[in-house]
Amino acid sequence: MNAGSRTKNSSRLARFRWWERGIIYQIYPRSFMDSDGDGVGDLKGILNRLDYLQWLGVDAIWISPIYPSPMADFGYDISNYTDIDPMFGTLEDFDVLLDETHRHGVKLLLDYVPNHTSDQHPWFIDSRSARDSAKRGWYIWRDPKPDGGPPNNWLSNFGGGAWERDDNTGQYYYHAFLKEQPDLNWRHPQVQEAMLDVLRFWLDRGVDGFRVDVMHHIMKDVEFRDNPRNPDWQPGMSPYHELLTTYTADLPEVQEIVAKMRSVVEEYRDRMLVGEIYLPVERLMAYYGASGKGAHLPFNFQLIRLPWKARDIAAAVERYEALLPSYGWPNWVLGNHDKSRIATRAGPAQARVAAMLLLTLRGTPTLYYGDEIGMHDVPIPAGQVKDPFEKNVPGLGLGRDPERTPMQWTGDERAGFTMGRPWLPVADDYETINVAVERNQETSILNLYHRLIELRRAEPALSVGGFAPLPADNDLIAYVRKTDERRLLVVLNLGAKARRFSMTELHCRAAVLLSTHFDRNRAELRDQLELRGDEGVIIELL
Ligand code: NOJ
Ligand code: MG
Repeated sequence: MNAGSRTKNSSRLARFRWWERGIIYQIYPRSFMDSDGDGVGDLKGILNRLDYLQWLGVDAIWISPIYPSPMADFGYDISNYTDIDPMFGTLEDFDVLLDETHRHGVKLLLDYVPNHTSDQHPWFIDSRSARDSAKRGWYIWRDPKPDGGPPNNWLSNFGGGAWERDDNTGQYYYHAFLKEQPDLNWRHPQVQEAMLDVLRFWLDRGVDGFRVDVMHHIMKDVEFRDNPRNPDWQPGMSPYHELLTTYTADLPEVQEIVAKMRSVVEEYRDRMLVGEIYLPVERLMAYYGASGKGAHLPFNFQLIRLPWKARDIAAAVERYEALLPSYGWPNWVLGNHDKSRIATRAGPAQARVAAMLLLTLRGTPTLYYGDEIGMHDVPIPAGQVKDPFEKNVPGLGLGRDPERTPMQWTGDERAGFTMGRPWLPVADDYETINVAVERNQETSILNLYHRLIELRRAEPALSVGGFAPLPADNDLIAYVRKTDERRLLVVLNLGAKARRFSMTELHCRAAVLLSTHFDRNRAELRDQLELRGDEGVIIELL
C-alpha cells in the first residue's frame, strides 16, 4: 500500500470510533494464563501475555469478572464490585495491567454484572437480616403464596424455581440465576445510584468500557405476574425454557436503566458499553436505545445460535443488516464462555471459514480466547464438573466447562498454562494445538487469524466499509465490502464439497488477496471461481 492510500485510509478510519473499527478479544481470566501456580489464571498472567495479544492485533480485551466472589458462578456472583479477588490479584495489579494494556495499544473492557450480586455481598447480608433492614428493598423480596409456596411460577436460568425461601424472615427472594445470585431491585433509587457509581469507580481508573451481563434481565414485572408456558418447549431443552420470559426479561423499563448507564459512560471520553442480550434480533435492536442512547453494541449472537449452514447464515446477515437502525453499529460474535466452541460446532476445517466470515462481515467482531488456535470443547468427566449449571441440570449438554478449559500456549506439560494443577483439564491435543507451535506453522489457523486481522486493519473496506450481499447458492456465501475506491469480494464455502462461483456478472478483473488455504498467491481470476471444500477467499476486484 502506498503512502497516499495510507493517509486516505487513516482519515477514513478517523471518522469511526475505536469500537467500530476495532476487534474485541474475550479473556476468561480463570483459563487464560496462570502466573502463580494455583491452577487458576490471574491478572499477572494476562499481563505476561499482552505481547501475544498485540501481535495478534486485537484492539480491545474484555475480561470476564475479576472481582471478589465466592465463585459459585465463577465470578458472576460478586461480593464486592470495587475490588479484585485475591485469586486474580490486587487493585494495584489491575492498575498495572490497565496501564500496560494501554501501552500495548489495546483497550480494556470489564464485565459489569448489574442484575445480581453474590448472596455474600454485604448489601444482601444486610437485606436478608431483617424485614426492616435499610437494604431490604435493594433486593426482590415477596411473601409466600397462602399455601406457603413461592410467590409465582418464575424459573431460574440454571434450573428449578427462581424463588428461595429465607427462613429467618419468612419471605422469598428472587434469583434469575443461582440462589447464590440474588437479583438486585433496580426500581430502588439507591440501587441505581450505588450501581451507577460502580461504573464511575472503574471509569475513573481508566477502563475503556464494559460488557454488561444479561442487560435485558434487569427489570421484572411490577405486578409479579406468572410467566406463560412456552408452546415450543420440548423435553431435552433447558427446563428454564418451559416458560416464556414475558414478565422477567426485556421489559420496556429496562431501556430507562440502559440509558442511565449510557449517560454515565458519556461523562467520560471514548468509553463504551456492550450489552449481553439473548433475544431475537428484532428485539435486540431496541438496545441501541432511542436515537442511539443505549448500548453501543448489543451483542449479536446469531453466529452462535444458528446451524452452521450457508443459507441460514446468509439470510441472518441480510436480515440483521436490514433491521439495524441508522445509528446502530453492527457486531458479530463467534463464541463465548457460555456456548460450545466454533471448532466443535462447525468442525476444525470450518473454524477457518468461520474466522474469515467473522473478520470480513460489517460490524465489530468479538473473538473468544482459544478460538484463534482452533481449541475445541473438552469433554469433562462427571467427577470433574465445575459448572453449577451442569450440576443443577445434568446430562443435557448445558454445562459450560468444555469451552472454558485452559488456553494452550505451548506443547509443554499443562500447555504452558500453569505450573500447578489446572482448575479444568487441558485438552488432550495441546501438544499440536497451541500458540507456540502454530506461530511457526505458516498455514495454521492462528496465522490465518493473524493475517485476517492484519488485512482488516489495513483495509477500511473490511473494517468500516459498506456491505452488499451477492446471490449464491448451495453451501456458498458471497458478499462485497467496499469503500469509494476499493471493492473486496468475499466468497465462503461452508460445505466440504468443491463449488463454483460465477463472477461474470461482476464484469471485472480480480485477484485473490487471501485464501483460508493460503496457497493462491494473488492468482488472477476472470469468470469463474473454483472453491475447494471448506475454503474461503477474499478477492480484490480491480
Ligand atoms: C451471563 C454470563 O455470561 C454467564 O456466564 C453467567 O452465568 C450469567 N450471565 C449470570 O451472571
Ligand atoms: Mg493463579
